Amino acid sequence: MSTPSSDPGLPRRGDFPQDFLWGCATSSYQIEGAADADGRVESIWDRFAATPGRIRDGSSGAVACDHYHRWPQDLDIARDLGLNAYRFSIAWPRIFGEAGGAPNAKGLDFYERLVDGMLERGLQPWATLYHWDLPQYLQERGGWNERATVHAFLDLADAMTRRLGDRVKHWITHNEPWCTAIIGNYEGWHAPGNTDLRTALQVCHHVLLSHGLAVPLIRANVSDAKVGISLSLHPLRAATADPRDVAAMERHDGLRYRWFLDPLHGRGYPAQTLDLVGASAPRVEDGDMEAIAVATDFLGVNYYFPETIVDDPAHGPLRARVLEPQAGEGREITAMGWPVEPAGLAELLARVQRDYRPGPLYVTENGSCYDDTVDADGAIRDTARTRYLQRHLAALHAAQRDGVDVRGYFAWSLLDNFEWAEGYLRRFGLVHVDYATQERRLKDSGKWYGAFLHGGD
Ligand code: FCB
Repeated sequence: MSTPSSDPGLPRRGDFPQDFLWGCATSSYQIEGAADADGRVESIWDRFAATPGRIRDGSSGAVACDHYHRWPQDLDIARDLGLNAYRFSIAWPRIFGEAGGAPNAKGLDFYERLVDGMLERGLQPWATLYHWDLPQYLQERGGWNERATVHAFLDLADAMTRRLGDRVKHWITHNEPWCTAIIGNYEGWHAPGNTDLRTALQVCHHVLLSHGLAVPLIRANVSDAKVGISLSLHPLRAATADPRDVAAMERHDGLRYRWFLDPLHGRGYPAQTLDLVGASAPRVEDGDMEAIAVATDFLGVNYYFPETIVDDPAHGPLRARVLEPQAGEGREITAMGWPVEPAGLAELLARVQRDYRPGPLYVTENGSCYDDTVDADGAIRDTARTRYLQRHLAALHAAQRDGVDVRGYFAWSLLDNFEWAEGYLRRFGLVHVDYATQERRLKDSGKWYGAFLHGGD
């Protein structure tokens, strides 16, 4: 295992500003389990996972890492790694068991214990209000396709910030609206599994609107609040210089990047993409676009890999074909089939800053999946993940040196967990979880991150 100082190409912690945030990111449905505990109701992911064929290994998040009960141990691990921040999400079905009801005291108590646990361990809490686990009762009334869900989300934001606002100052309204809207409602391989563009774009609009309306509400409840949103973004490349591929890439960019960042920064939905979606465009009411464009305190960027786009008329005018990456000839891919390209992180951050001047950036997710094995001596020698982490930190450092205002990095993820449609087949953790025994074991990558963080100045 290499140590921070053994490779001259690698930055040391001390090369970053002293107040830089070093965290791990997690999400409620992926780790908590305890699906029936203390008044939690069904989420769209419980329902989706119970539908045959939806999850590759037929599993669900019903038990997951049992973090609901084991969180003290998990936060101990985070502290021992040397982290100073921890990103988690709130399970809405633990807080509101019915639309318009009173918040569930036991659900609120759980997150209060969790947050107090973070503070006791020197971890700055970063709370995400929505990381995809919508209550199923809301989906039955149309879910995010309905404007009423925006108001239900504001109730959630209100309840959580009233209860935790004296201790949690950093709030992320939504994690990756692209996934909520497009994967969940157009591509259909995430919950709730719809495959309708019009629905997906209406969902997207309501998610963005709920963000915009939540920001002032959070600020009203939380003194010194810092509020933002986390987007999943990819640098895009055209497969060739052929103008058709370039045009396909630009169309893809319109939906994948500008559809989110333009309205968030007061530019409305991009005109070219609106033309392409035609009658599937969302219904927008007076004042919506102004609400969505509310100024935020930071932008969260989740980066995993770049996408290479090929023109393919069979995909229709809107959705371009993303080239399947192949390993070989200096090209690496992870076990998800995602290409490894650390420079893409710096490129992406620089582009977002140049295009939108969004204020401070935080990498709110970045990580890699490999088929880990536990060796006879108990070690998990995940060299490829360690390299992935090291090279992305080097890219982050380069970005910062080049003037990008990035102030924190959250590795995805602390623990192996329920990776959505892939079930438990995909491991992203710095910590290995044996799902039969719930034993946690630090992987070599986690040991490296810990050594980096303790490496000091
Ligand atoms: C992101 C999700 C996160 C996790 C990683 C691998 O898109 O936000 O929950 O699944 O991908």
